[in-house]
Amino acid sequence: MIETLLPILYLVASVTFIIGLKMLGSPKSARKGNLIAGFGMCLAIAGTILFHTDSAGTHLHNIPLILGGIAVGTIIGWMMAVKVKMTAMPQMVSFFNGMGGACAALISLMEYKETGSVSAGHGAATMAGLIIGSISFSGSIIAYVKLEERMGDIRFTGQQLVNNGLLLAVLIVGACLALSALTGFPLALLLTAGALLFGVLFVLPIGGADMPVVISLLNSFTGVAAACGGFLYNNMPMLIGGILVGSAGTLLTVVMCKSMNRSIWNVLLGNFSAQGAASGATEGATGTVREVSATDAAVLMAYAKTVVIVPGYGLAVAQAQHACHQLENELEEKGVTVKYAVHPVAGRMPGHMNVLLAEADVSYDKLVEMEEINPEFPTTDVVLVVGANDVVNPAAKTDTASPIYGMPILDVELAKQVIVMKRSMKAGYAGIENELFYRPNTSMLFGDAKTSMSALVAEIKLI
Ligand code: TAP
Repeated sequence: MIETLLPILYLVASVTFIIGLKMLGSPKSARKGNLIAGFGMCLAIAGTILFHTDSAGTHLHNIPLILGGIAVGTIIGWMMAVKVKMTAMPQMVSFFNGMGGACAALISLMEYKETGSVSAGHGAATMAGLIIGSISFSGSIIAYVKLEERMGDIRFTGQQLVNNGLLLAVLIVGACLALSALTGFPLALLLTAGALLFGVLFVLPIGGADMPVVISLLNSFTGVAAACGGFLYNNMPMLIGGILVGSAGTLLTVVMCKSMNRSIWNVLLGNFSAQGAASGATEGATGTVREVSATDAAVLMAYAKTVVIVPGYGLAVAQAQHACHQLENELEEKGVTVKYAVHPVAGRMPGHMNVLLAEADVSYDKLVEMEEINPEFPTTDVVLVVGANDVVNPAAKTDTASPIYGMPILDVELAKQVIVMKRSMKAGYAGIENELFYRPNTSMLFGDAKTSMSALVAEIKLI
């Protein structure tokens, strides 16, 4: 009876992962999906602790150690998740992803220490888990430090040669260990060190708008490494969970590259910031800047037929989403049609704007994706840009020297009037100026987005 209970628990857990992932596809169901998958993971862990036996029928013997580890991990994870600011989510995702990679690498390392390479298949899964998990761990930690802005992009002459040489050496040693052409635990440790070093070197030159792509790629690495662990232990939830993370991460990487019109190789070679540094990238962004008061901006919007709001990273920093929703309600009461134009990489993480706006109860059907909204801008009366910068920078279409050249953007400059809310003329994430701010149909409403938004709401109420 007990022998059949564990596979059933594993099956239920695997199904919850699939359902959870599916529900993460919409902001409406994402929270529930997360809880369902989390519940499945608890079932799998509890089932393993209670019912797992080895081939000799012996139960787990180090339960206090396992429970201690779970307690420490739960407390740290819980505290980090409760304390994290929305704007620091990418760092946290990167950090947690690194921990997953480290676990997968340790599983493979221990497996090799205990059994060596039993067969070519077993050896290949062990070495793949060890190499990919180690790269994911050290790469994610470097990405975490960079996103915390404690480290810039680091380049040196011959970097690609060093990286490629190291990767080749790691792959050759890994293959030899997998096929038992070379043996010994010290060599496996050396391989781990090589893979860790490669993870560091691989992320060092990458920066700018490419960071989310790298995080997503590292996420898929962790998934693949975990799947290798699942294969080694013949553990279904681990295998399925790993495959889901691996494939979802790969798909997200491809979608983000497409959104930024960049090839994955271009990202991995760290060309984004290299181009930016070479171009100087601020030329042409000069001219007269027109300022507008909250009163005048309110009049402009209240008498418009259509207003499109473009949320960006500044909306998240200012936590202006609730005030933004209030503005939308006030305008709609006056008969204005209001929509939100959401750029796929606005903010600092995939789906950042959707999450913020959903938090403020903005109806999901009001959020329009870039491809759909772009043809509507020429007939839009007013575009209100709230703390967005790079995603509305026309240089992406016209300046071949710009680091964001080729990235599809929201064509807001084609609207009749553009009002930009930000605190200063400072650049956005890519560190480049924006000539949109100098266009004759653009007016700047300077100030913190939440304060300006509340002022707009108050003014519109008076009209
Ligand atoms: P950004 O280009 O980063 O611009 C944000 C603007 O918000 C800044 O220019 C800043 O100007 C303004 N701002 C900051 N705090 C503000 C506040 N309290 N009130 C009002 N304005 C404020 O943002 P974006 O247009 O959303 O573009 C996102 C960028 O991040 C892209 O380059 C993207 O590739 C990159 N990125 C995206 C992701 C993902 S997956 N979404 C992850 C990492 C990086 P002031 O300082 O003058 O106020």
